[in-house]
Amino acid sequence: MADAAGAQGMLFDRLQEQQSDSLLQLIALANADPRVEKIDVGVGVYRDAAGNTPILRAVKKAEAILHETQETKSYLGSQGDARFVELIKPIVFGEAGAGDERIVGVQTPGGCGALRLGAELIEAADPDARIFVGQPTWPNHMPLIECAGVEMVKHPYYDPAGKRILFDEMMDALQGARAGDLILLHGCCHNPTGADLSLDQWKAVAELVSSRGLIPFVDIAYQGLGNGFEADAEGTRLVVEAAEQALIAQSCDKNFGVYRERTGSLFVKGTSAANAKVILGNLLGLARTMWSMPPDHGAAVARIILDTPELRADWEAEVKEMCARIRSLRRRLAAYDERLAYIGDQNGMFSMLPLSVEAVEGLRESHGIYMASSGRFNVVGLSDESVDRFAAAVVEKMDG
Ligand code: LMR
Repeated sequence: MADAAGAQGMLFDRLQEQQSDSLLQLIALANADPRVEKIDVGVGVYRDAAGNTPILRAVKKAEAILHETQETKSYLGSQGDARFVELIKPIVFGEAGAGDERIVGVQTPGGCGALRLGAELIEAADPDARIFVGQPTWPNHMPLIECAGVEMVKHPYYDPAGKRILFDEMMDALQGARAGDLILLHGCCHNPTGADLSLDQWKAVAELVSSRGLIPFVDIAYQGLGNGFEADAEGTRLVVEAAEQALIAQSCDKNFGVYRERTGSLFVKGTSAANAKVILGNLLGLARTMWSMPPDHGAAVARIILDTPELRADWEAEVKEMCARIRSLRRRLAAYDERLAYIGDQNGMFSMLPLSVEAVEGLRESHGIYMASSGRFNVVGLSDESVDRFAAAVVEKMDG
């Protein structure tokens, strides 16, 4: 057998050891900590006042309906649940965008699937394509897009120490983009910083996209959790309207609370309705080579909610409650100390603390506080009880 393996040795002996994903590792570390007073503000999941991640009321009801009415588990095809995609489209693009036949969509396994499928489409269309990515960004953005072979060009986005968006620096860097280059944008609730572009800044990006022939690739994973569904989509709609071509990776994992069901969609805007049909064919072919068909359950549940007026109203009300809770936690942190005041002006689940890796580790050891080593923390990982304890420990660390 040794001879058969050849001079190279055994196949899997050639693999390099890999580091675990830092955010997913945090879940395990926090779970393993026996301290009752521990505070898990690592991975981005919504938690209620008692610190639990509930299943949304409308989701529970839709699951019961699905259980009663679903008659088959037979294959749906690579597009997934077409009605789900049709119902998500107006949420992201508004009524005007929903009717745009240049925009086609497919269901994907969560936002990750959408980002990966988009990257594969870009690479299939142009192996020399480049995508501009602001720093810092969600830790999985670069690996997901890069592994499809798309070249990444980093540009400044946010200064954690100065707690501000580096907009001029970003626009200067984007001047270096060529027609046909892509820009990765966070639709709302920027991950990891919580620092979103203002509407005027979105307008400036939209103008640049239009004048330079750039292609926005928008990741919108937190719609509804920043300032409401419509406000959270404004920037996305502006750049998609301004651009001749665009990609939009959408996720239901957070705003339907169906994280483990992996529910999302990828929309792509082509140059014409005919071009969009060709794009759709390519998306279906690429999806077939990766996951063949997306998992059904989460999309079926979201489809039932969106298609049932009472469930839809209750879902919208519950997302509003979640959004209000995030805003109230932000206000409490901001009021605690002036050095945390900036958190009150940011959006969504995350903000970044200007702490060193050692300081973050110190908080973990001494207080059982689990956050990403970048200083990113999940604001809504705090319970009503833990918010002041967290703020006190963080401010103490800032004092050195
Ligand atoms: C996060 O950023 O915490 C979430 O998007 C979960 C993930 O997959 O990383």
